Amino acid sequence: MSNPSLLILAGDGIGPEVMAEVRKIIDWFGTKRGISFDVTEDLVGGAAYDVHGVPLSDATMEKAQEVDAVLLGAVGGPKYDKLDFSVKPERGLLRLRKEMDLYANLRPAQCFDALSDFSSLKQEVVSGLDIMIVRELTSGVYFGEPRGIIKEGNERVGINTQRYTESEIARVARSAFELARKRGNKVCSMEKANVMESGILWRDVVQEIHDAEYPDVELSHMYADAGAMQLTRWPKQFDVIVTDNLFGDLLSDLAAMLTGSLGMLPSASLGAPMANGRPKALYEPVHGSAPDIAGSGKANPCACILSFAMALRYSFDLGAEADRLEAAVNAVLAKGIRTADLLNTEGVTPASTSEMGDAVIAALEESL
Ligand code: IPM
Ligand code: MG
Repeated sequence: MSNPSLLILAGDGIGPEVMAEVRKIIDWFGTKRGISFDVTEDLVGGAAYDVHGVPLSDATMEKAQEVDAVLLGAVGGPKYDKLDFSVKPERGLLRLRKEMDLYANLRPAQCFDALSDFSSLKQEVVSGLDIMIVRELTSGVYFGEPRGIIKEGNERVGINTQRYTESEIARVARSAFELARKRGNKVCSMEKANVMESGILWRDVVQEIHDAEYPDVELSHMYADAGAMQLTRWPKQFDVIVTDNLFGDLLSDLAAMLTGSLGMLPSASLGAPMANGRPKALYEPVHGSAPDIAGSGKANPCACILSFAMALRYSFDLGAEADRLEAAVNAVLAKGIRTADLLNTEGVTPASTSEMGDAVIAALEESL
């Protein structure tokens, strides 16, 4: 049998630097655990625009459809700010999500023990925090029609449309309930049913799927603004949160920062199962391309490394190896090895991106 295939799209800014560390981890699993992948690399975002004039070429899109999983670094940067909207780096990522139909975006917000003094919130509020945001990723206002900037009389009007079909809501609700059963068995669904019809439908459909298929899971509903407030007040009340594309974008950044560093958090974007039973999947760190530190060796590779751990877990059914990798990252933090984003004390020399990657490899070695 041939090895499972991975397409690496490192992208822009710190993407290539953090991905280089993931390559080391992938190689380690090949040589030390006999878990090998056929890896190909390609371009996305500004890096693709520079070569092809588009942020994702058709050829790359085709490859992404064929592989077992895609690993993405980050897209975007000030160099591309003035580009036409249709070819901005972000459009490459959005095309991947849409055409691969990656409707369930899993964004864990986990507080690493060694970092619980690092949040802007009180330690007791965040220590031990472990929540999972399931963000709908292929519909809603990100993709709804009509959209655009039109002329009305003598002024311009910007238009976007929030649109959800029942089946779009139902499938992401199922993803959330399935996950909850493997965790704390609780789902909180967030929308704005008080002002949006799409929110009313969202609430109804989530409730119907619950009652018909997942009555054993505890379900609650919250308006998304109240949800944001509750997330900062007492985040440990949540287990799985399911929400739409735009609210999920906002709430997942908020939840991520509860844990102290965006540089630690991975994500998985999953679609329907392929012929081989694996879900269509793309894994990427929650953080962006951080152009301000790109090329300086300061970036934290942990979020990207942990995204690979999610790939092991969700695409390749290697939960124990994912645990091993997550434990290695934890061990590195516990030893006090930190990249600059994880340090708030003066006088401590931060680890560079590659030193952090090497430290994770060393911790993996110790796990054998
Ligand atoms: C994210 C990002 C993207 C989004 C951008 C880069 C298009 O903020 O993945 O959260 O808005 O979805
Ligand atoms: Mg975002």
